[in-house]
Amino acid sequence: MNKREAGDTVRAVMWEEGAVRLLDQRRLPGAEDYLRLRSAAAVGDAIRNMAVRGAPAIGIAAAYGVVLAARECHERQGRDWREAMDPVLQTLGAARPTAVNLRWALERMRARFADAVDAPETMLLEEARLIHEQDIAGNRRMGDLGAGQITGAVLTYCNAGSLATGGYGTALGVVRSAWRDGRLDQVFACETRPWMQGARLTVWELQQDGIPATLITDAAAASLMQAGRVRNVVTGADRIAANGDTANKIGTYGLAVIARHHGIPFMVAAPTSTIDLAAAGAADIPIEHRDAEEITRVGGVETAPAGTCAENPVFDVTPAALVDLLVTEKGLIRGPDRDKISALFASG
Ligand code: MRU
Repeated sequence: MNKREAGDTVRAVMWEEGAVRLLDQRRLPGAEDYLRLRSAAAVGDAIRNMAVRGAPAIGIAAAYGVVLAARECHERQGRDWREAMDPVLQTLGAARPTAVNLRWALERMRARFADAVDAPETMLLEEARLIHEQDIAGNRRMGDLGAGQITGAVLTYCNAGSLATGGYGTALGVVRSAWRDGRLDQVFACETRPWMQGARLTVWELQQDGIPATLITDAAAASLMQAGRVRNVVTGADRIAANGDTANKIGTYGLAVIARHHGIPFMVAAPTSTIDLAAAGAADIPIEHRDAEEITRVGGVETAPAGTCAENPVFDVTPAALVDLLVTEKGLIRGPDRDKISALFASG
């Protein structure tokens, strides 16, 4: 799982010596600091505070958090450890509301509780590791499927890379595979206000693997498209409804609109763990709102007058009709809709 190949060297979430090890993404690119977390509460804080972020990475960190919780509860309550797990799962699950991979991973872990009566840590760790390994394998598959659709320059948003997943990345998995196959000549990374995941994380991550990236402001995307310099837009997703409506970092919807205006294919790369069949459409996707200070300050410095009223939704929903291609580990869907998505799940 931690095997790193050329072109795929970054890992943000690890299980090491009985603890969760996280690359603290708040400090990148200035510092490469690792947190060593030994309690489920600490993992919940790390998710809430964005030390780990990106939908699949949040789910994997939470799965390891469940292992820590089971250890704590077993030490305290012996064979009755499962009774104490509910509040822990609830706290972990509430840490970030939009990324459905969090709920998905917690449900998968809970499904193993019944088999893990006497030695929960060992058995649950197996499941968490499996979730992690499957995520990386799925990303490689998605990368290879998506790469076949790429030619020339790609524009990407936020960070949907190794840092946001178990490894290899979703959108950046497509970028990695396309770069390896010689199909890609340029990556434009949007800054992604206000957390700057594009500038701080995507550019850093691609630099680690020697893939050239050009940073642009979010506002420059439209004029770059108008000038014919973007051939594909590729993003990840935090939750995809059963009809293909896609929640991703705030600003993604705008990119999809301008891509359609310019006739540029808009590709979403996401594992099936990001598809929420219980959400019929956009209206069923909860949108996380974060502290207004994230936009009234930059780097700790006030950039808006005191008392500014600010609103900070951190995700938006792109209607399925604007998604040209959905790439998952199970296959590729052109023009995703309810029927095609349910056929994808039915295909096994
Ligand atoms: O707020 P973040 O940084 O967790 O948001 C992340 C994104 O929006 C990513 O694009 C998404 O999770 C897909 S990651 C493979």
